[in-house]
Amino acid sequence: MIISRRQALQATAAGIGSSALPTAIQAAAPSARITTLLGRMTLAEKVGQLTLMNAAFRLPNEVGANTGLPVAQAEEQREIEAGRLGGVFNGFGVGWARALQEAALRSRLAIPLILGADVIHGLNTVFPVPLAEAAAFDPGLAQRTARAAAVEASAVGLAWTFAPMVDIGRDQRWGRVVEGAGEDVFLGERLAEARVRGFQGSDLSALDSVLACAKHFAAYGAAEGGRDYDSGNVSASLLREVYLPPFRAAIRAGCLSLMSAFNEVDGVPCTGNRWLMTDLLRDQWGFEGFVVSDWNADIEMVAHGYSPGPRAAAKDAFLAGTDMSMRSNLYRDHLAALVEAGSVSVADIDRSVLRILALKEALGLFEDPFNRIDPEREARFAKPAEHAELALEAARKSIVLLRNDDDLLPFDPTGKTVALIGPFAETADYNGSWTLFAGEGPSLAETWRKRLPETTRLVTSEGATVDATDEARIENAVTAARTADIIVMILGESSKMSGEAGSRADIVLPIAQQKLLAAVQATGKPVVVLLQAGRALALTDALAKAPTLVLTWFLGTRGPDAIIDILTGVASPSGRLPVSFPRAAGQQPFYYARKPTGRPAHDAAAVAFNTGYVDVGNKPLFSFGHGLTYGRIAYDRPALSGNRLGARDQVQASVRVTNEGAREAVETVQVYVTRPAGLVTKPRLELRGFKPVTLAPGASAEIAFDLTADEVAGVETARGRIIVPGQAKVWLGGSAETAVSVDLDVAV
Ligand code: NOJ
Repeated sequence: MIISRRQALQATAAGIGSSALPTAIQAAAPSARITTLLGRMTLAEKVGQLTLMNAAFRLPNEVGANTGLPVAQAEEQREIEAGRLGGVFNGFGVGWARALQEAALRSRLAIPLILGADVIHGLNTVFPVPLAEAAAFDPGLAQRTARAAAVEASAVGLAWTFAPMVDIGRDQRWGRVVEGAGEDVFLGERLAEARVRGFQGSDLSALDSVLACAKHFAAYGAAEGGRDYDSGNVSASLLREVYLPPFRAAIRAGCLSLMSAFNEVDGVPCTGNRWLMTDLLRDQWGFEGFVVSDWNADIEMVAHGYSPGPRAAAKDAFLAGTDMSMRSNLYRDHLAALVEAGSVSVADIDRSVLRILALKEALGLFEDPFNRIDPEREARFAKPAEHAELALEAARKSIVLLRNDDDLLPFDPTGKTVALIGPFAETADYNGSWTLFAGEGPSLAETWRKRLPETTRLVTSEGATVDATDEARIENAVTAARTADIIVMILGESSKMSGEAGSRADIVLPIAQQKLLAAVQATGKPVVVLLQAGRALALTDALAKAPTLVLTWFLGTRGPDAIIDILTGVASPSGRLPVSFPRAAGQQPFYYARKPTGRPAHDAAAVAFNTGYVDVGNKPLFSFGHGLTYGRIAYDRPALSGNRLGARDQVQASVRVTNEGAREAVETVQVYVTRPAGLVTKPRLELRGFKPVTLAPGASAEIAFDLTADEVAGVETARGRIIVPGQAKVWLGGSAETAVSVDLDVAV
């Protein structure tokens, strides 16, 4: 939609509530089967469909925030048999699933349960944490790993996953940055849709498809100070342009369930936010799936100081548009009474029940409640061997080579003594958050020992635990270092230092490990630092200057192999940062797509009377999009096919890229725009596309992107998208910091 500048200004003034975006997803009208079924249901049975309980047993790696059994197994069983439960989550295995589903079939109307779980980055085969996988800048890969996760999840009886997490994370203190696609909206959108397609496949009723659930709706990533569960102040334009688009992308890709967020938006907790859940989601976006609350998020509206008590919280959540209550049993305990009191209408209950039954039907559960509950499929697909290959590919592609100043990497360990030092050398902690089901495999040292040539000697030393060390430990590490030809240090965060309830106030490498690094570096030996982290860290002192630095995140099942492959040149690094690395922890929130101010400053050093700090400059240590290869990549000046762009035109932006190095490289060419001035302020730079190109030594290639006027100059306003005419810039390059711009006149 193109409207005049005057209309646009009026539209912006109209605020967030009046956004009119086109409806995209279409769900089938309720079938005769479920409308007939609805007609036979009692109120208690209807409310049961709106209730989701967690499994009455503990998972192998249960996370703290999700512990506590709300019901005893016998009670859960009774509720199911009485038809008072719609679904159960975070159990697994066909034995478990069969027992539950059989109980459901013993209920009066034999409505099958929906069984779900947090299958976020793999089930038995663990793929890199989503933030790491975002570094691959490869939606196709994200789709394939989500597909593989769906295959394993559906093989153990599950039909629903609470993923993808599509929250934009711009404050690295927030522990849940690790679960998403990072700081960028465009990358977030592409990965949201890829993951939805991967989980759901092309047909929800297929035995290996699971229903996706985009979460946490909405603006959970805006948590003030990065404190998990805290609220953030999000303006209408920030919601429209940053926090909502990945949800929109997920829905457009067919995602049919959403999870409400714990936080509030504009003074109203999301779970009770009617504007969010109904006006926007249903009336404007046309969402036809169902919304489940996050864990206890409905009852927590009492602690928020929003709902005066549990019964009011049930009413607030339900009337806002939260169809299903997770874990609190609030709907089970209060909805019927609210209907009897006339506070909630049966028509509203019916509408939510129909949404859930429609999805159960789409999942094929009415045709065959045991469709994903088959021991033979479990044996074959719960952890297929071929997924290990995919996990290796994903792990390799997620690794980011931050610095390789002395060309130390890759190295051939043949005939050498290698010292592997650090808290994660002999201790495996690479699965990351949200691996409820799988255990850790062999450590990096164990894996390497098996793979090393006979002439290589591997010595290891812990040197420090994650956050403590002492003289003896450091001495031991230094002794090991002195005997070595090359030292590989694996430092960083434990998996518990990110993820849910994993926020950190000071996002630096723990001091103990910094001491260890300094002591080892003082030996003067060549040191490769592997950095394990669930977020961008503020690298200081010796670490900030480390000449050889590799970001290894939490890479999952095949992490150690992937690391060894990159170190030794079996594979080439190609990952790119989906989050900016700051220079100091206090710079958070820190991201590249900042808006300019009246006094913009983007310098490495502090500039007086310009936006920034007196003690640190604004440039990142490592920029969004940064990532080195084993080649040496040079960019020519970018060019445009024309310097004027009409409303319905496209322009082609291109650049020649050459590998001047001696090794093959995969370079990810990125295109950014600066939208024209006018209407509202906009970020100084925004990603609009990326393309990988494989370049042999000496080879070059012309990489081109077609851009529409909407991509170069579109603004999301309260009344729809508007193209703002004027002078834009198109930037091409290998990161947000190094991209070079060409001017473009948008004429509409
Ligand atoms: C709380 C988390 O916020 C959410 O992401 C998760 O899906 C639920 N717990 C269920 O485990």
